[in-house]
Amino acid sequence: MTLVVALMAALLGAAKDDGFGPYKPTPLKLSIPKGWPKPNSDIFAKNKLTEEGFELGRKLFYDGNLSKDGATSCGSCHQQFAAFSTYDHDLSHGINNTFTDRNAPSLVNLAWMTSYHWDGGINHIEVQPLSPITAHNEMGETLENIIAKLNADSSYSRYFKAAFGDKAITSQRILKALAQFTGSLISSNSRYDQWKNGTLKFTPVEESGYALYKANCSSCHREPLFTDNSFHNNGLPLNRFGDAGRQRITGLSSDSLKFKVPSLRNVQYSVPYMHDGRFNDLDKVITHYTSGINYLQPTLDSILQKPIVFTERQKLELIYFLYTLTDTSFTKNKRFAPAQPITIKH
Ligand code: HEC
Ligand code: HEC
Repeated sequence: MTLVVALMAALLGAAKDDGFGPYKPTPLKLSIPKGWPKPNSDIFAKNKLTEEGFELGRKLFYDGNLSKDGATSCGSCHQQFAAFSTYDHDLSHGINNTFTDRNAPSLVNLAWMTSYHWDGGINHIEVQPLSPITAHNEMGETLENIIAKLNADSSYSRYFKAAFGDKAITSQRILKALAQFTGSLISSNSRYDQWKNGTLKFTPVEESGYALYKANCSSCHREPLFTDNSFHNNGLPLNRFGDAGRQRITGLSSDSLKFKVPSLRNVQYSVPYMHDGRFNDLDKVITHYTSGINYLQPTLDSILQKPIVFTERQKLELIYFLYTLTDTSFTKNKRFAPAQPITIKH
């Protein structure tokens, strides 16, 4: 009897028991879709991607406690059904009835980007959350307060332990876990992808739309990511915030009105469009390219200097092609939705 007790005590001791079992994270690999280039940033080089890290990141992404008012989570502005943009809002709501001064971009294929935000002002995915967390018109919170709030929420200990080996809640771990979640948001199963992989055929209308896209749009919205990961001026007039885009970061007048080329993946759902959400449908976007470009801007991209002419039918064909970039297996993927309470198995 005493032997059994001693043995049990030894076993418990060996597992450094804290009630959550041993540290055995499940490694994950960022899967690179067929035919895609390698990611431009090795975002998980110093942040080992694991199932448990991803799960913690997902919990944090949807937790209002990361904001001052307890209600403004990352997911409140980045809504999954809108491909992680803010649906139907040019600007998003922050705490205390504030608004962002830019449109929330969709969050997709972030590992292929080398910089984040419309002006590329952030160059690492792990640093990115500091911007919304601390901005007075977004989450208005400090990491110190967040750590205190998470420590008071008993559900977190097991998540931190499972992801990082012990229960300690630190800023670095919060940022790493968030990056594991956002960096895993890959969309690669649209009709376009299935067509590329030879598993379905485009309709004649989609094929005509694809040809128009290739001829007019693909140099900036480059396949297969539908962005060239760079900054261009596509001829939009300056907005009411006087937002000069990339120039804000570099200070160079040659960067005036240049913005990061947004991916067109899931563009059907990421309405409204552009850095300030000024267009509320794709028809208006295409009309901008045919008749709205401001040709007097010195930084207007050379490709757009030559006016684009489309018939009404061609506009529709192009829109039908853009719809082929919709990936509902991404926008409805349960793995990216808020988790049901406690999904981690030990
Ligand atoms: C109040 C709304 C709001 C909240 C809350 C919010 N975001 Fe954002 N997010 C935005 C806006 C607006 C931008 C564009 C900012 C810019 O370009 O200046 C953005 C940009 C981003 C980007 C860059 C995407 C790209 O393609 O460049 C990432 C990544 C991101 N947010 C992740 C997060 C995470 C993680 C959180 C939670 C910690 C979060 N966001 C909270 C509105 C929000
Ligand atoms: C010279 C590069 C360039 C070309 C060519 C170009 N775009 Fe763009 N596109 C951009 C940039 C840059 C933005 C973001 C501009 C901004 O918000 O200020 C953008 C934004 C968009 C958006 C908004 C996406 C969103 O999520 O907000 C759509 C849709 C779009 N372009 C479609 C097209 C189509 C269709 C064509 C071809 C007719 C095209 N673009 C040609 C550079 C280009």
